Amino acid sequence: MIRGINESLLSTLAACGDVNRNVLAPPMPAFTKAREAVYADAHKVALALAPQTKAYHAIWIDGVQLNLNADENKNFVDPLYGKTYLPRKFKIAFAIPPVNDTDIYTNCLGFIAVVENDRLVGYNLAVGGGMGRSHGNEATYPRLADVIGFFPADKVVEVAKAVLTIHRDFGDRTDRKHARLKYVVAERGVEFMRQEVNQRAGIQLAPAKPFQFTTVSDLYGWHQAVDGTWFLGVHVETGRVKDTESCRMKTALRLVADQFTDIEFRLSANQNVFLAKVSAAQKAAITELLHAHGVKTENQVTALQAEALACPALPTCGLALAESERMLPSLLTRLEQLQAETGLAGERMVVRSTGCPNGCARPYMAEIAFVGKAPGRYQVWLGGDGAGVRLNRVWKDVIKEADLEAEFRPVFTRFAAERQGKERFGDWCDRVLLKETPALAEK
Ligand code: HEM
Ligand code: SF4
Repeated sequence: MIRGINESLLSTLAACGDVNRNVLAPPMPAFTKAREAVYADAHKVALALAPQTKAYHAIWIDGVQLNLNADENKNFVDPLYGKTYLPRKFKIAFAIPPVNDTDIYTNCLGFIAVVENDRLVGYNLAVGGGMGRSHGNEATYPRLADVIGFFPADKVVEVAKAVLTIHRDFGDRTDRKHARLKYVVAERGVEFMRQEVNQRAGIQLAPAKPFQFTTVSDLYGWHQAVDGTWFLGVHVETGRVKDTESCRMKTALRLVADQFTDIEFRLSANQNVFLAKVSAAQKAAITELLHAHGVKTENQVTALQAEALACPALPTCGLALAESERMLPSLLTRLEQLQAETGLAGERMVVRSTGCPNGCARPYMAEIAFVGKAPGRYQVWLGGDGAGVRLNRVWKDVIKEADLEAEFRPVFTRFAAERQGKERFGDWCDRVLLKETPALAEK
């Protein structure tokens, strides 16, 4: 299997290790030509932070060990990671305001592109974000990254290495639940981070440049990119590309990949697929192929589906305490029925669910989040926003899935009556509802 993945030009190198995991690049080519420069930087950073070990290539295939040099592997010390690697995983994302489609503040390290006249000039640096927590352990908590300054784009690799080695050198190696960079930033402070980054990267961080995020959402359907090519945002329910009777998405996407070899497939952090770099002539043929397999290219989603996320949970994930991927679609339908009943039909709300508090679907940023506690029981968090810039808070420590309507009917009814103008649900929760809700000791 590893060979197969490798041959498809992906890599499983240190995939679950205490290393830099993935580097997310913003997938959408709609707004600025500077995206290509940001993408190139993301690639550069991913290569620069990859472990150098050859052990990956010393795998056995058909009884034969490749690249046999056991001693060399055994004594190898990685130039960046040393012999003991990081205290815990490390995650990086890039974003181009106003679109926060990579949920930048949930990452250990975030590069927020500063674009002037379609040219990338540098990045605002965000450090110390993370989602994971544990039920019943108040010492663990989700945290937003802090923006600590601006630096020119040509220093991106040095800065990435600086932040990574701060984690390497100061992360807590005695307790895996306290080992992420977010706790270093929370406990040692932003000024400490600034000084360490400056010193390690040989730069002087300038004050952050102004920017604003307005959405976390992907664009669905066909749109024209700034370079004149076309791209298609395909909604993938809970991120699972599969064939069903009415929609054979897996077959269709495979055929598109086989027949249109010069286009790009991009997976988004919103669990969707973008087909990019498509010519006008290919656009019609791809649309026809998708439609023939029941895959919509227009009107793909309802307001709630558009921004919803679920982690895999049962039966895929051994840490799951409750359903998530298999539960969310019907839960969205029930919330939509409740919206219609309370005069909120078509209202966008960011809804996310996870089967446990580790937070793989980034629930602590959602306007409504369901975090699994036990089969059919969820902790409910409210009050995130539509742009991924505010954490939510516990509203109910546990609700039964069966009681969804009874729990949410009074809240939706009040929101419909009390909202100011076009105020979003999460903003109203933050402004009104949660002010009335005593902070729950997290159980
Ligand atoms: C589609 C698959 C998955 C994706 C995209 C994913 C992504 C993420 C994200 C975004 C976070 C929150 C950010 C953070 O604090 O690191 C997270 C946390 C975490 N994930 Fe996943 N995850 C996936 C599956 C899994 C599975 C199957 C497991 C375990 C069997 C797992 C274990 C964890 C743990 C333990 C944390 C908390 C880490 C901490 O707080 O230190 N994830 N994951
Ligand atoms: S959040 Fe979901 S995928 Fe992540 S560890 Fe928990 S149950 Fe598994």
